[in-house]
Formats: sequence, structure tokens, C-alpha cells
Amino acid sequence: AQYENIKVDVVGAKKNVGLISLNRPKALNALCKDLFVELGKAVKDFDADDKIATIIITGNEKAFAAGADIKEMQNNTYSSNVKAGFLQEWEDISNCGKPIIAAVNGFALGGGCELAMLCDIIYAGEKAKFGQPEINIGTIPGAGGTQRLPRYVGKSKAMEIVLSGNFVDAHEAEKMGLVSKVFPVEKLLEETIKLAERIGTHSPLVVKLAKQAVNQAYETTLKSGLLYEKSSFYGTFATEDRKEGMTAFVEKRAPNFKNN
Ligand code: HXC
Repeated sequence: AQYENIKVDVVGAKKNVGLISLNRPKALNALCKDLFVELGKAVKDFDADDKIATIIITGNEKAFAAGADIKEMQNNTYSSNVKAGFLQEWEDISNCGKPIIAAVNGFALGGGCELAMLCDIIYAGEKAKFGQPEINIGTIPGAGGTQRLPRYVGKSKAMEIVLSGNFVDAHEAEKMGLVSKVFPVEKLLEETIKLAERIGTHSPLVVKLAKQAVNQAYETTLKSGLLYEKSSFYGTFATEDRKEGMTAFVEKRAPNFKNN
């Protein structure tokens, strides 16, 4: 497909990593509606493509994304938001079954930070800056910032970030658990691809089950989550790939997963 606001590539030694680069550099990758429609389509297409194991969303060195497009939403009204279901395209990202890794260099602000948090793993370059500065422009986060951020970093830090509008740098973000690793700027994409390729060596079917199970931890009580995990764990024993994985271990060879 041809896109105007994103670039889409297939990368990695086995060509099994879907790379989506946000591409509105003049607006610091502000997330206008057209960009999000394209992003949702690209994610859906990679999710449906059996050759793709893992998806990466990245920006450029200056910005991952500086937020929702302020110029585009400037004249929205309450009723226009309700009627249009403003930001509903964002659901496409959380519905993806495959792992999505955010590779963040530069600004991840407002909707940009929320997009990164919609992904499953966040890797950052040393110069990355995260924040929820909506408060500076008279609004509040609208795509998970008040809900996902506290689950990543706890109440006090989330309140500080949301109420002050201050930015946190990559190392602070790592320390507070928002980011899993920080790399030199020029190494970030390479390291993210390595992680994507590593995930791609596993059974795609079981990777999907593992992602679903971890997500339960953010959506339910501990008791229900543990029950979900147990059922899903038991369920892996109905798969060919579980059998192959354990057989390969016992036979001291590499497994040959079939996604079954
Ligand atoms: C539209 C944006 C934008 C945004 C930057 N630009 N952020 N356009 N929406 N969110 C545009 C600028 O208008 C400018 O265009 C160009 O990108 C470069 O930006 P500068 O401000 O000149 O760059 P700089 O001085 O380096 O400052 C970088 C910055 C600043 C600190 C990131 O741009 C900034 O504060 N941006 C807004 C960040 C923000 O408030 N994000 C939250 C948005 S609300 P021109 O044409 O003038 O040169 C939000 C709501 C979430 O995300 C709701 C759910 C999604």
C-alpha cells in the first residue's frame, strides 16, 4: 500500500520484522487522523501477514511523535468529538495480536507517549524525552495517559508527569519502568530489530498467547489473571509447537516451530 504519513518496510535477516516509521517530520510526527488511519492499516496488514513475526513502530531522531495534531483538533467541539468518535482509530493498535515494539528517539509527548505505551515494549534512544504535556494546552491525556502511565510508573510519578507537563528523559524513564532499555541514538533501531528477531525465533502462536496473558495483568484482578494464565498455559499443551519445543529440548536440537 502507498502511504503519505508513514513508511513501511520489512527488515531483519529473515525479513520477518515489520517496520513502521512515522513520517511527518515537519510537524514532529504529530498524529493527525490520516496518519492514524494509515498506521492502523499498516499494523492490521502486518498482523495478518504470516511472514511477519514482530512489528516495530519508530519515528526519527528528533521525534517519535510530539502528540496528537494540535492544529487539527484546535476547533473540535465536545459534540464533534462524540459524534466522530475522535481517536477511535487508536483501538486498531491495541487489537494487534503480534508484539509491537516502540523504538523511541526524540520526543514522545502526549499522544506520542500514549502511542508508545500502547505498544508492548518500549526501547529508547538516549535523547528520548517522554511527557504528557496536555495540561499546558488546557486539556488532559485522551488515549491512555491517565490510565496506562500509572500502571507503568505508579501514582506519584504519573501524577507528577500529568499535572506538571514536565518531560522525563530516557534514563529517568528507564528507571521508573516506562522504558525497558536505553541505547545510544544510532544503535536504537538495530537493537530493536535484534529484539524483534529474537521474538521471531519463537512459535508465533505461543508468542500471541504469551502477549495476551501478560495483558491480562493490566485488565483484571490477580485471581482472574492467574486463572486466565493457567488455562492458556494448559492450552499450549494442545499445540504442535509446545510438543516440538519440549521434544527439541530433550533431543538437544533447535526447535522447528510450525505456528500450529
Ligand atoms: C501539531 C506540532 C505539534 C503537535 C509540534 N508541531 N508538535 N503540530 N501538533 N502536537 C509542529 C510545530 O507547530 C512546528 O510547526 C513544528 O512541529 C516544529 O515544532 P517546534 O515547536 O518549532 O519545535 P521545537 O521548538 O523544537 O519544540 C518541540 C516541542 C514543541 C517541545 C515538542 O513542538 C511542542 O511543545 N509541541 C507540542 C507538544 C504537545 O503539547 N503535545 C501534546 C499534544 S496534545 P510550524 O509549522 O509552526 O513550524 C495530545 C493530546 C492527546 O497529544 C490526546 C490523545 C491522543
